[in-house]
Amino acid sequence: MGLVRFLRGAKLLGQTKLVPGMTIAEHGEDAGVEIPTNCTSGNCGTCMITLLLGEIDVPEILPPGLYEEIVEEGARLGCIGIPSGDVDVDILPPI
Ligand code: FES
Repeated sequence: MGLVRFLRGAKLLGQTKLVPGMTIAEHGEDAGVEIPTNCTSGNCGTCMITLLLGEIDVPEILPPGLYEEIVEEGARLGCIGIPSGDVDVDILPPI
């Protein structure tokens, strides 16, 4: 079983067990860490976090809330991003 950890900078804010199929924002609720969301459908970018470790797939056709350069910096969307295995995320966007 994997672990989803939420950090801000070097500070660990919370962690929770990975539940397959659940989004990062939902894992945040379980961990007691609020990921701000708005559209919850990949459009607005409000829920953007930074993937530090592990894997969160992005759709082949990027949703409006993401673009190539920031994805390379680790940007993912909490509302639609589903972790596979252990992940560490910073709750702030990469830039
Ligand atoms: S809440 Fe709008 S992209 Fe996630």
